[in-house]
Amino acid sequence: MKAVAVFPGKPNSAHLAELPEPSLDDVAGGRGVLVRVVRVGLDGTDREIDAGQYGAAPEGEDFLVLGHEGFGIVEAAGPAVRGILPGDHVVSRVRRAGSGFYDRLDMPDLTTEDTYLEHGISRVHGFLTERYVEDARYLTIVPEGLREVGVLLEPTSVVEKGIAQAFEIQRRLKVWRPERAAVLGVGTIGLLAAMALRNRGLEVTAFGLEEPPFLNSELVEALGASYVSTGRTSLEDAARELGRADLVFEATGFSPIVFDAAVYLLGKNGVMVLSSVTGGERRVDVGSDRFNLDLVLGNKVLVGTVNANGEHFEAGVRDLAVAEARFPGWLSRLLTHPVRGLEAYQEALGLLGAPGAIKVYVEVSPEG
Ligand code: BGC
Ligand code: ZN
Repeated sequence: MKAVAVFPGKPNSAHLAELPEPSLDDVAGGRGVLVRVVRVGLDGTDREIDAGQYGAAPEGEDFLVLGHEGFGIVEAAGPAVRGILPGDHVVSRVRRAGSGFYDRLDMPDLTTEDTYLEHGISRVHGFLTERYVEDARYLTIVPEGLREVGVLLEPTSVVEKGIAQAFEIQRRLKVWRPERAAVLGVGTIGLLAAMALRNRGLEVTAFGLEEPPFLNSELVEALGASYVSTGRTSLEDAARELGRADLVFEATGFSPIVFDAAVYLLGKNGVMVLSSVTGGERRVDVGSDRFNLDLVLGNKVLVGTVNANGEHFEAGVRDLAVAEARFPGWLSRLLTHPVRGLEAYQEALGLLGAPGAIKVYVEVSPEG
């Protein structure tokens, strides 16, 4: 069976590998599910891994199969699997439980271990392959009606976790009635965050660098949200004009924006969710007194969030379904760059970050 693999740490090492077929017995206790991969989404993480900046091979191996945004169809299930049937569409969680406390509680997204296990990223092979076997507890069923957009579930789960954390944190206020949200960044995560926040009835402003109109700004407006270009309007001016946000979701990949957003955009008692995985070494000069004072006097919270657990995948399914009902066709417009076949991995990697690209994904096998 074919797979797209890299040698972690070695730049541009993506290659087609030949792997043995997985077996249901690879998972103990009869809980294995054999999944045929249909589509796999790629993102900046895959690009960093291929650049040799990120990623780790499973113990005892020198290669890592790429791909953490997998969407597939169940071919067979072990005798102890309940509720997942051949023919079901499924998406696998990215993190597998390690040995830490939260891992044992089935919340590996909150692990305190430094060496966590992530499919296609860290020490577990990913989904850019023909088939994989995973423990049933890590799989979420995608309803038939969401088949076309199911490849968006993993990035949606990351958004769901961030929003869930924000709401959980705001229970500190006893009563919290958020009205206004700001989303920083209009890539896949920013757009999905805008969608999920609109689904919750919030007024949403999304900020991006580019001048509108372009596809991403049109997608923001199609949600009944507004788009503001930070190239033209500072966060400070935008907040003065539109009001401050009760909730800010940061997904630009540009860490310096965090400081201005916390001071100028986030309102009193507000919460800001940070989701950008910024692998670089960037440093900036920060007005630290102002930053600190504003957080203190405003009772503001900044929270980092990564990955997602099963409940967030399930929340993602519900939000994708609401979006399909409320904004028909909107999710499909995010699927801008399909690439056919595992063999075309170089083309797919090359498209990441290309102008106009929102979701780049590989069609691994035709449905059927
Ligand atoms: C994935 C997350 C993962 C994170 C850090 C992201 O691209 O979507 O699931 O936890 O990278 O490795
Ligand atoms: Zn991803």
